[in-house]
Amino acid sequence: MGEKIHVSQATEDHHHKRQQNLSPSLSSKLAKTWITTKIYIFLLFIFLLCASLSWIFTFVLGESRFQVTSVFTRTTNKSVTTTTNIPKSIIKIPLNCTLLNNNTIQTCPSNYPTKFEPAITTSEACPDYFRWIHRDLEVWQKTGITRETLEKAKPNAHFRVVIKSGKLYVHKYKKPFQTRDVFTIWGILQLLRMYPGQIPDLELLFLCNDSLVIWKRDFKKDTGPPPPLFHYCGHPDAYDIVFPDWSFWGWPELNIKEWNKLSVALQEGNKKVKWKDRIPYAYWKGNPNVSPIRGELMRCNVSDKYDPMVRLYFQDWRSEVKNGFRGSKLEDQCTHSRYKIYIEGKTWSVSEKYILSCDSVTLLVEPEYHDFFIRSMVPMKHYWPIRPNNKCGDLKFAVEWGNNNTEKAQIIGKQGSEYMMKNLEMKYVYDYMLYVLQGYGKLMKLDVTVPENATEVCSETIACPITDGGQIRQCMDDSLVMSPSIKSACNLPKPYGDNELKSILKKQESVKRKVGKWADEYWEVQNKILQQ
Ligand SMILES: *[C@@H]1O[C@H](CO)[C@@H](O)[C@H](O)[C@H]1NC(C)=O
Ligand SMILES: *[C@@H]1O[C@H](CO)[C@@H](O)[C@H](O)[C@H]1NC(C)=O
Ligand SMILES: *[C@@H]1O[C@H](CO)[C@@H](O)[C@H](O)[C@H]1NC(C)=O
Ligand SMILES: *[C@@H]1O[C@H](CO)[C@@H](O)[C@H](O)[C@H]1NC(C)=O
Ligand SMILES: *[C@@H]1O[C@H](CO)[C@@H](O)[C@H](O)[C@H]1NC(C)=O
Ligand SMILES: *[C@@H]1O[C@H](CO)[C@@H](O)[C@H](O)[C@H]1NC(C)=O
Ligand SMILES: *[C@@H]1O[C@H](CO)[C@@H](O)[C@H](O)[C@H]1NC(C)=O
Repeated sequence: MGEKIHVSQATEDHHHKRQQNLSPSLSSKLAKTWITTKIYIFLLFIFLLCASLSWIFTFVLGESRFQVTSVFTRTTNKSVTTTTNIPKSIIKIPLNCTLLNNNTIQTCPSNYPTKFEPAITTSEACPDYFRWIHRDLEVWQKTGITRETLEKAKPNAHFRVVIKSGKLYVHKYKKPFQTRDVFTIWGILQLLRMYPGQIPDLELLFLCNDSLVIWKRDFKKDTGPPPPLFHYCGHPDAYDIVFPDWSFWGWPELNIKEWNKLSVALQEGNKKVKWKDRIPYAYWKGNPNVSPIRGELMRCNVSDKYDPMVRLYFQDWRSEVKNGFRGSKLEDQCTHSRYKIYIEGKTWSVSEKYILSCDSVTLLVEPEYHDFFIRSMVPMKHYWPIRPNNKCGDLKFAVEWGNNNTEKAQIIGKQGSEYMMKNLEMKYVYDYMLYVLQGYGKLMKLDVTVPENATEVCSETIACPITDGGQIRQCMDDSLVMSPSIKSACNLPKPYGDNELKSILKKQESVKRKVGKWADEYWEVQNKILQQ
């Protein structure tokens, strides 16, 4: 556009100059042409003005205007006519806790929207970790999921979820630890409120405890496809389907807020103390008794020969619960230290997203298990890799290196934190769930049926009966999806090709090896000094 304006102005100058040097008759003829040209230029100017104004409205003001609309008002007919982008009306679906006919049993409202066309179709691609979805479901691609295949997962499941015509039914088999099942189901219900009509009919089985159960070694070609079982984490040697864990909607027992609120608080927390003003040590606080590797970590604390550069603390949840969690607010933990250690518990740990969100450098003890978002994070870009069999030495080296190279260390911390804030927005968490369930739904080779003893569940049946003013209801109120998304889900990127994935993993391995080699070289020198 800018260039066009430039060109038309150049022709104008050209005409002026020619006019001055020509004979009167010719000049009057030219004058007419000149007037026509002027009109054209004027029209062009008006056109450009309109174009740029509409551009500003659509792209600069567009987003925020739509959001404001969705929160405060119903759009009137007037604004519908001004732009085609605005939905005809924005639906709000607050909890409706009124009881029917003096009944004491909460029922599901019958007026839930069953379909909603997102008004804004985004062309943005989903984060890279979505590229794993296809792979996670690949093992059933050829055969589909038959009734027989699905039911084999039942002995390991805590509950079954059936989604039929946008309604959700639950059959609980076993009670898992704390409220894991409640908040997992709550999360799927919020997804249904977010994208009405977009989740296909399906039946799924969910395992809520820490350990995986569907190991690849147990399923060879002749045993038929493995049973599909949803779980909070995955493993390269297992078929369990990775799904976001309950803590995105809150972990009331540990006073951990739902992710929307907490991620903002963590971001604010980052700003409170400058990186350089934090203690120059690697910090970890947790329960070391859940896994041997954590026990080993605790032994990095002791050396009479040198400063191990770590600060490790035992977290006693029972006494924290008693004390009302004073001094363990997650958002304040970002400011403690320049470095924070992530180390797995029994399997994956919920703490991973909280640690990576801090702009302290994450010293990531190479995990065996993965949650859904970690698989596209890059060593030395988003975190510093620590070898599990050389933890203490690697930790001391990483911290010393960071204290010697504060600029570079801060960049790693910042990039890790930015990755989390950008790629783990709650909208993406829902988008991820949407694509997993859509992909899974396509595999259903069975009649989706509501089991005899299953009950219809909605946000109302879960939240309304909880009136004690406690943390559980608070987490639900905070994470309730109020309106269907006016923005469509991000665009699912292409799955990784075999060779592409191999080369990515190879590159990551080589980075990790390089860092390991630095540490080894450093310790060769250190050990010589120590021996003297
Ligand atoms: C808005 O449009 C609907 C039909 O599209 C019409 O019935 C209604 O009267 C209009 N309301 C106003 C305030 O113009
Ligand atoms: C809430 O539910 C009650 C009972 O089902 C119903 O009568 C009422 O219309 C509902 N209110 C809204 C705003 O949908
Ligand atoms: C609800 O129950 C109360 C007492 O149990 C009664 O007084 C009231 O009339 C009932 N209301 C309806 C709508 O049935
Ligand atoms: C995990 O869940 C499975 C299936 O419900 C159960 O058999 C197993 O005992 C559980 N393990 C633990 C440690 O709770
Ligand atoms: C580790 O060291 C810190 C600081 O010196 C100390 O407060 C903490 O109790 C130690 N932890 C263990 C498990 O020894
Ligand atoms: C950090 O700098 C000190 C002093 O220059 C040096 O002795 C030490 O080896 C360095 N450590 C690392 C890991 O770079
Ligand atoms: C449903 O519940 C009844 C009574 O509790 C029980 O007898 C029956 O076996 C259950 N059906 C299924 C399919 O679990």
